[in-house]
Amino acid sequence: MPNIFPTHYSSCRLGYGCMRIADDRTKGRQAVIAAYESGYRLFDHADIYGGGACESLFGDILREVSGMREAIVIQDKVGIRPAGSGRTCQYDFSREYLTTAIDGCLRRLGVEHIDLLLLHRIDLLADPVVVGEVFAAAHAAGKVASFGVSNASPAQVRMFAAHVGFPLLANQVEINLDRIDAVIDGTLDQCLELDISPQAWCPIGGIGYPAWGHNASPAQWKLVEAELDRQAATYATDRVGINLAWLLKHPAKIMPLIGSTTPERIRSSLDAVNIPYSRNDWYALNEARRGIRLP
Ligand SMILES: NC(=O)c1ccc[n+]([C@@H]2O[C@H](COP(=O)([O-])OP(=O)(O)OC[C@H]3O[C@@H](n4cnc5c(N)ncnc54)[C@H](OP(=O)(O)O)[C@@H]3O)[C@@H](O)[C@H]2O)c1
Repeated sequence: MPNIFPTHYSSCRLGYGCMRIADDRTKGRQAVIAAYESGYRLFDHADIYGGGACESLFGDILREVSGMREAIVIQDKVGIRPAGSGRTCQYDFSREYLTTAIDGCLRRLGVEHIDLLLLHRIDLLADPVVVGEVFAAAHAAGKVASFGVSNASPAQVRMFAAHVGFPLLANQVEINLDRIDAVIDGTLDQCLELDISPQAWCPIGGIGYPAWGHNASPAQWKLVEAELDRQAATYATDRVGINLAWLLKHPAKIMPLIGSTTPERIRSSLDAVNIPYSRNDWYALNEARRGIRLP
């Protein structure tokens, strides 16, 4: 397994999220190629996206585009058993389930190894020692180069980090202007403390489309929109550009995972890296979202 992870990971501040690429295969293929050609180097998957169809489509693209596999970081996520056949959705980090899931990812992607494997949502019944043994076996077999977590609280990160025997390189959590928990609940502070890369899923939730949880009140959201429009005019961009600049400003080096399947949107999201976003505007948006003046 070549150790390509660190160089490629840091060559682009944004990653591309493949959750929607199988909704329309033609559009999805164009989106992945647009992301690759415009400079994205980390591609995020999960075994459950499209019921496995997103990984399979991505595997087809890798066989089609010469040199792409070697140039990118393939990140995949496992650990969720979807609901079905009378079973409720379960998070399952058992040895048998994780081992089978990893093999399924490799088979659908058609690759020999995954560069970074994340535990998708934390199994509250997990034995972290067993998880460490699964990691060690997958690593020794050349199937997975490195590991991380997703949707993990700071306490869960500490608990797994203490037992799994590998550094946890990433924690992928929802961060957007509607859901700002990671900024204030210790998640990003812990990333800085332990050198973990925070990744923001649904980075434009609330702006490109309605937020999942509607965490902000209508009054707070009105303030956010007014502040976004003021800042968009100042920086000659749009609400999405300001939203991404706000994420990128944080010293923990948040990696927004762009999930659009529109090539122009995929490309223009990269422009946010060059917005000379000020500390003052970061705090102004923070105050608008929280609906309070900081003391
Ligand atoms: N770990 C987890 O639990 C978890 C959960 C969810 C997602 N994820 C990861 O995070 C990635 C990103 O999430 P997401 O797909 O919700 O990403 P997103 O970038 O926040 O949203 C993309 C969606 O917004 C739409 N959109 C509307 N207006 C837009 C605009 N002006 N600019 C850009 N997009 C606009 C896009 O439509 P078009 O496609 O038509 O452009 C697309 O449907 C996923 O692909 C997945 O890899 C992880």
